[in-house]
Amino acid sequence: MLNVMKSLLYIIILCFPLISFNLDGQNTVDLFPQPLAYTQSTTSGEFIMNSEVKFKTSGTYSKQIKKTLTSSIQSYSSVTEGVSKQIQLDLNKKLSLPDGAYNLEVTPEIIRLEASTPTGLFYGGETLKQLFRHGAGCIAACKIEDAPANAWRGYMLDESRHFFGVEKVKQILDVMATLKLNVFHWHLTDEPGWRIEIKKYPLLTTVGSVGNWADAQAAPKFYTQEEIKELVKYAAARQIMIIPEIDMPGHATAACKSYPEVSSGGEGRWKDFTYNPCKDVTFEFLSNVLDEVVSLFPAPYIHLGADEVHYGNQIWYTDPAFKKFIKDNNLKDAVGLEHYFIRRVADMIYDKGKKAIGWDEMVDAGVSPEKAVIMWWRHDREYQLKKALDKGYDVILTPRRALYGDFVQHESHKIGRRWGGFNPIEDIYNFPGKSVQKVIEGKESQILGSQFTMWTERIADEKRLDFMTFPRLVAFAEAAWCPVTSKDEKHFMQKLPLFLQYLDTLNIYYFDPFNPAKRPEPHGPSKADVLQNG
Ligand code: ACM
Repeated sequence: MLNVMKSLLYIIILCFPLISFNLDGQNTVDLFPQPLAYTQSTTSGEFIMNSEVKFKTSGTYSKQIKKTLTSSIQSYSSVTEGVSKQIQLDLNKKLSLPDGAYNLEVTPEIIRLEASTPTGLFYGGETLKQLFRHGAGCIAACKIEDAPANAWRGYMLDESRHFFGVEKVKQILDVMATLKLNVFHWHLTDEPGWRIEIKKYPLLTTVGSVGNWADAQAAPKFYTQEEIKELVKYAAARQIMIIPEIDMPGHATAACKSYPEVSSGGEGRWKDFTYNPCKDVTFEFLSNVLDEVVSLFPAPYIHLGADEVHYGNQIWYTDPAFKKFIKDNNLKDAVGLEHYFIRRVADMIYDKGKKAIGWDEMVDAGVSPEKAVIMWWRHDREYQLKKALDKGYDVILTPRRALYGDFVQHESHKIGRRWGGFNPIEDIYNFPGKSVQKVIEGKESQILGSQFTMWTERIADEKRLDFMTFPRLVAFAEAAWCPVTSKDEKHFMQKLPLFLQYLDTLNIYYFDPFNPAKRPEPHGPSKADVLQNG
């Protein structure tokens, strides 16, 4: 009898933290991200994991989900003895649920998870894993109906400024999967380093991958094609697509110093910053590079950058060869030349069967909206977002404020950007604010989704990368998954410690918004240990 009482008490203690009550008194659940609809069962009870649990699957993909679920929940199987139970995984197209949506029903005896697409089944599985994790093997009887409000829920990592490597990327992909994030935008080329092996152009890695933002002589770091294939597969198994970014025509220093024949040249700080848009050899080079990129990444997009060319194209205004090319091709000026380059590469990407993504400078380049998607980043130019929508482009939202992760997140922090303020977790959670919502109004169908973007000039190691990423990525994931009207910042902050505990188990050094002094800000690369306002 004492043992039964003890088990009962154990179950009550385990199940209690799963349920909380929001301001309206409706019951809700502590999940990341919050599901669309949660109803606690009126007939109370819990599904308690035990060693007798059997799976019933329909569809090949269900067997895969069973495998990942089993390995994650079997550690709870000793909670209680006895009664046989079932976890049913049903991939059923006839249900006609939208992509990514799933239904989950938990009773004391059976868990039923159903979806119409593999993605939906995967997300239901992630929800189940969280429920088991939070309840240590015990889930209160309930019903969940869930679906993403936005198709694109991304995280960008800049590995040109600093390189982190396969194992760190895998860990990020793992946490992204838990959070139901589905796009990993990989910034692989820029000024300090070229990070992707291209077999036809070995100097890109023997020369171009040497150095990083803080140290031009740092040992060469790049991903081999085998490693890239491994990561693409790893991501796909987590329903994440990887979008590579090959930045051009600016931010191309690493490539141009490796192959000077494709460089615009120039002098001083901005030497080799841009590809040469006036030479056929440049487009031949880029076409060959993109052929290998296309063969490595099955995603339907290639990001071509297109940002900030004006920083380093002074030579386009002064050198007679550039002036002649502008005149001969009836281009207006150096800006016309920039747009000519972008149009030509967007066409090239389209001809290779992919769509180009470009930063919001591309809105002005005259690329057909059929062939391109815009990433809106200049938060101080909402008109650029409006223009992109008016011209008919699909758009991904990642404005510096609030969605750049290299902005500091607390007023006490010294390293990182501030620009009329910074990016605390609350601002990320509340994105998009009223002003952006107003611009989007009536054109919601053109918004693919949003992205949390991590530039790494001031992030030289994993500890600092973790600190700048977490827990803001958790807030971002909920902001991206939930309809604006169903977000609840107070409840999010109340439940957040549960996710912080999970990050502890992964040894992730996150910022603690509840106790900022507890976890000091990690140092940046030595030359950047200063407040940056740029
Ligand atoms: C950017 O931040 N240069 C897109």
